[in-house]
Amino acid sequence: MDRETVIIALTGKGGVGKTSISASIVKILAKEFPDKKILAIDADPAIGLATALAVKPEISLDDIRSEIISSVEEGDTQSAIELVSESRYRIFEAIVETDKFAFLSIGRPESEGCYCRVNSYLKDVIEMVSQQFDYVVIDGEAGIEQINRRVMQKVSHLLLVTDASRKGLEVIRTINDVAKDMVNYERIGVVINRIEDMSLVGQLDTDQVELLGLIPTDRNIMTYDIAAKDFMGLPDDTISTLEIRKALEKFGVLDGGRSQ
Ligand SMILES: Nc1ncnc2c1ncn2[C@@H]1O[C@H](COP(=O)(O)OP(=O)(O)O)[C@@H](O)[C@H]1O
Ligand SMILES: [Mg+2]
Repeated sequence: MDRETVIIALTGKGGVGKTSISASIVKILAKEFPDKKILAIDADPAIGLATALAVKPEISLDDIRSEIISSVEEGDTQSAIELVSESRYRIFEAIVETDKFAFLSIGRPESEGCYCRVNSYLKDVIEMVSQQFDYVVIDGEAGIEQINRRVMQKVSHLLLVTDASRKGLEVIRTINDVAKDMVNYERIGVVINRIEDMSLVGQLDTDQVELLGLIPTDRNIMTYDIAAKDFMGLPDDTISTLEIRKALEKFGVLDGGRSQ
């Protein structure tokens, strides 16, 4: 099958489940497509996906960016694209390989206010490394910044994640508005996570965005998170995985009805 790379990016308010769902998606894709190349990118400076997927990246994109800036005299005036071509080799070194997927971390920029720099760098890196993979899953930073800065421009599937809170829904509404101009997505959709009470669902207004799935509160996610257990070991039939799988079918990432 000659298909362009599928790039799924998760975005939404902080604490709504982006990292848990990203890790679950990586697990589902790895199981579904054992022969495909899968890359997980932790694009959230708050960091979490590495723990969820039990990987220990030694170098982050921010480390590479800082190295280059300090080693090049005119570093500050270098454009992001020049940085990327110079650091191509280092970036591929920074990718951690497991037998099921590869992993890259944006890192935690040390000085305040330089997120925009690492973000424009990240945009070029995503474009470059994605070409080497069949599936890329990006655990995005909370909020709208990376959408605004076109970091997600080349994303094919933009997955908005919210919980059932008003604030969470507001954030995805804003992201949906901005993403129309800033992201060249093929598909956009929303999942509502951590639903305790299904009877509330009818009152949740996701507006014009397609509702892909409702993910109930799942004890397994809680216990895996608390014990820092590897999400790759989550049972295939745990409720969150089953619902995320259905959402991926609706999203056109998995073929519906082919398996199970
Ligand atoms: N479906 C779920 N069921 C139970 N707990 C969940 C679920 N989704 C997320 N959580 C918990 O909610 C918290 C925030 O989730 P996380 O994935 O870190 O969110 P984000 O990456 O958006 O900040 C974590 O403690 C996680 O274990
Ligand atoms: Mg997170």
